[in-house]
Order: sequence, then C-alpha cells, then structure tokens
Amino acid sequence: MVTKGTEMSALRNPGTNPETSVSEFYNGKTVFITGGTGFMGKVLLEKLLRACSGVSKIYLLIRPKRGQDAQQRLQELLCSPLFDPLRKERPNDLGKVLPIQGDITQPELAISPSDRALLTRSVNIVFHSAATVKFDEKLKLSVTINMLGTQRLIELCKRMDNLECLVHVSTAYCNCDRSEVKEVVYPPPIGPDQITSLVDTLDEDLVDSLTTKLVGKRPNTYTFTKALAECWLKDNKGDFPLVIVRPSIVLSSINGPLQGWVDNWNGPTGNYGLCGSSARSIIAAAGKGLFRSMLCDPDKTADIVPVDMVINLMLVAAWRAGTTKSKELKIYNCCTGQRRPITWKKFIGLCFKYMRKNPLSEVTWYPDGTVTISRTLNTINRYLLQWLPAYIMDSVVCMVRIQDKLNKAATCLEYFTTQEWRFEDENVRQLVTTLSEADSAEFSFDVAKIDWENYIENYVLGIRKFIFKEDAATLPKARKQVSRLYWIYRIIQVISVMCLWHFFNA
Ligand SMILES: NC(=O)c1ccc[n+]([C@@H]2O[C@H](COP(=O)([O-])OP(=O)(O)OC[C@H]3O[C@@H](n4cnc5c(N)ncnc54)[C@H](OP(=O)(O)O)[C@@H]3O)[C@@H](O)[C@H]2O)c1
Repeated sequence: MVTKGTEMSALRNPGTNPETSVSEFYNGKTVFITGGTGFMGKVLLEKLLRACSGVSKIYLLIRPKRGQDAQQRLQELLCSPLFDPLRKERPNDLGKVLPIQGDITQPELAISPSDRALLTRSVNIVFHSAATVKFDEKLKLSVTINMLGTQRLIELCKRMDNLECLVHVSTAYCNCDRSEVKEVVYPPPIGPDQITSLVDTLDEDLVDSLTTKLVGKRPNTYTFTKALAECWLKDNKGDFPLVIVRPSIVLSSINGPLQGWVDNWNGPTGNYGLCGSSARSIIAAAGKGLFRSMLCDPDKTADIVPVDMVINLMLVAAWRAGTTKSKELKIYNCCTGQRRPITWKKFIGLCFKYMRKNPLSEVTWYPDGTVTISRTLNTINRYLLQWLPAYIMDSVVCMVRIQDKLNKAATCLEYFTTQEWRFEDENVRQLVTTLSEADSAEFSFDVAKIDWENYIENYVLGIRKFIFKEDAATLPKARKQVSRLYWIYRIIQVISVMCLWHFFNA
C-alpha cells in the first residue's frame, strides 16, 4: 500500500548521516522498552528484531500480572501471531529479548539492584511506551503511572552510562484543549510538581472530588497526565537526546509482515470497555451488529494512524537523534489529518462496507449504522437500534451488559468524534526527507501514501483474524448468513415504516 521510496527522499537534507542507515544504527545496540507487552510495544519489538537484525539485546520492563512473572509473560508475548514470520525465518533472534521484572508505579521502577546495574551499564536506547491509556482512570493512578512513572524512568536514564537517546510516547491529544497543536510542549494549567504533592498528600476520595477542576478544559485524566509528563520532561530532561512522539488514534498495521494486525482479546481491544482503545472495540462490536449509532460530526477529520507507521517513526526518530547527537528536545506529531485526512463519515462508512463484505461468523445482527451530530437523534437511535434489541435478547445472552460497556466506550470517544484538531507535523515532514530511499521503504511513516480503502479493508480483516481468530475459510458461510440477515433487516424496516404510517394516519 505504501510504495517503495518517496519523492521526498530525493530531497535529503544536508544534515543526513548517509554512512549510517537506520538499521545499521541499531547494530550492536542494547535497547530498553517499557510498555513492550502493550499494543504498540509488541509492534515495536517485532519491528526492531526483524528490520534491525544487528540489534544486540532488547530488555523489556514487564510487571508480574495475573499470577505470571515477567519471564512467563515474555514467553506468552513471543507466542503472539505477530512474531510468527520472525519465528519461522530467524527463531534464534527471539532469544535477544530479555525480561526485566518491574513496575513503573514503584520507586526505582521496582527493578532489582542487579538488573538496574545491568541496565545502567549496557542500555543505549530507551523507548518509553508504558502508560495507562484508560481515559477515565482515577487521577491518582493516572498521575502515578503516566507522570511519576516517566519521572522514575528519567531518573534511571540519567544514570545510564551509554544512553544515546530516549523516545517518549505521548499522545497528540494531550493538548486537546487547543484546536491547533504545534510540535512544542505547552504548559498545563497546573504544574507537575503541584499535582504530585496534591496526589501525595490528599486521600483518593478527595482527589476524585477535585478531578474535574484539576483536569480543567481537558476531557479526561489520560490527556491531562500525558500533558503533565511532557511538561515535566521538558524541564527535567537529562544530558541526552530526547524525543517525544505524539500519535493520534492508533489502529492496525498497514504493511507486513501481518497487514491489519491488531491486538487480541487479552489486550486493550478486549472487553468492549477500555476507553483508550474505544475506537477499536467499537468497530469490533459494529462488526457483530451490536453497535449501530454514534454521536459524531460526520464531516470532521478522524485522525487515525496505522500502528506500524508510528513505530517506524519512533525508530527513525531515535536514529536521527542518536546520529546527530542533538540535545534539542524534538517533538513529532504523528497524525494523518494534515496530509491524508479522512472524515468520520468516510471512515465509518468504509468500516461497515468491508464488515459486510468480510463479515464475522455468528453476527448478532446485520452490520449497519448511522452517525449523527444530533444528541437527541443519537439517543433515539441507540434506544431503538441497540438497547431495545438488547433487552429483548437479554434472556439469551448478556446483551444489556455489553451495551452498557459499549455505551461507556462511545461516550469516552464523543469529545474526539465531534471536534477536530490541526496537528502541525513539520518535524515529521522534515524527518521523512532525511531518509535514504532504502530506509524510507523499510521504515515508512509517510502518511500521505495511505490508501484508506485498502487500509480499512485490511483493518476489518485483521479484526476478524487476530481478534475473533476466524479462519478465512469461514468467510463464505458468514457471507451467506449476512445476506439472509440483510433481507430480514429490510423486511423489518419496511414493516416499521408501514406501522408508523398507519399510526400517524389512524
Ligand atoms: N493506542 C493508541 O491509540 C495511542 C494513541 C496515542 C498515544 N498512545 C500512547 O502509546 C503508548 C502505548 O499505548 P498502547 O496502545 O500500546 O497501550 P496498551 O496496549 O494499554 O499498553 C500499555 C503498556 O503499558 C504497560 N504498563 C501499564 N502500567 C504499567 C506499570 N505500572 N508498570 C509497567 N508497565 C505498565 C502495560 O503493561 P501490562 O501488559 O502489564 O498491562 C502495557 O505494556 C502509551 O504511552 C499511550 O499513551 C497510544
């Protein structure tokens, strides 16, 4: 979908380091990743191993979870289908990945003294992706993970002997209180240190009661604490190159090795409920015919970016900072709105189109739906098209509970689907020009080349394959079921119109 090379690469900047390609830069390097078990972290890990085969070691910070220690979680992670191609081609390379047990909410990241010594001695590049992406996380926890976690990581980075670059993953929406967002750090309404002392001294209930006031014009604790982290980083960065990458809404991969890859049900896409991944969970539910109406301005831009483009940008940004050794804080708004915009109407329309062409097996109802900017119409549609059928079906399956979760996820998204932002991406455009032709093919993040039709079809197929684990062989049967549902759907629509006509003319 993204053609090899770009016209832009012909205009390479004089500052380019032609003797070191991106993959060569990682030769012999030791990389430390936080958030490696998450949606984006997995793609980063896979790409590093596959495209930068000379990388020496990759340490992943992993917290113990659900009775599994870091080692067990790493083994499970490497069993993900994402690593299948690599496992076939270069199985030994998976041995370069080593777990570091820790937790960013704890002092010293809860990393053992021996592991800390190992990291400070050997790490060259750090990618900080760990965060809570729950929009409505309690403020205390959100501050602890997103801001204090970042602070703790920086303290560790400052002790690293050979650190060449730190890439911090933020979000384009951390400044969603302004309509135009440049690639600079804006001060939040309240400083990071004040917030730290507030959450340290006040008990959780009191912090909860103050949350709306504290987050100010931002819609949730997530965007607020990501902004605080950026602000703290700007004022306290160490003596090493620091890069902040700000993606907008991150969806499935656009290119190989697995086009359309999205996280599985155990990840953030699951449970129809985690707000940070609401877009992905809602689309999955729409494919089942469970989600049919959304409050959104159809003509506003849906700023969606493929996960592998974000990862490529991160890898290239580290290369650029590491090779130029520039100490200037660089920020990259990794977004599509300026150069390859797609409206919500087009995005949702294409999702439904391809969900009908490539339906899931066992759909609950014919996949179709509407978007509207009218809150009243949206409420009526939700009641008629989602809640009423859910109540009717609830004796068979827990539809009401699912609708309740979907409703929460959709509400979290409303702020973002009813407005649009202008994310300036001058630094990203410049970075594209520094790449050689070979590097821009391997590490493409030139969003101008995205073919949305093709991308969204693969996205829908990815949901089918990687989330619902459905084999392509089940497609013909699923298509037959959807075509039957289509006729039932149309008949019900005709009967409803006739009943309404009869009611108003009686
Ligand atoms: N996805 C998007 O649409 C999007 C958009 C813009 C920016 N971002 C940013 O991109 C980054 C990655 O997002 P994502 O979608 O990959 O999120 P994700 O799938 O929820 O992953 C979050 C990662 O953070 C880790 N983490 C959370 N709390 C931790 C703790 N206390 N100690 C250690 N690790 C912890 C998680 O580990 P566990 O596996 O142990 O939970 C997981 O690996 C985040 O910084 C996010 O703000 C994401």
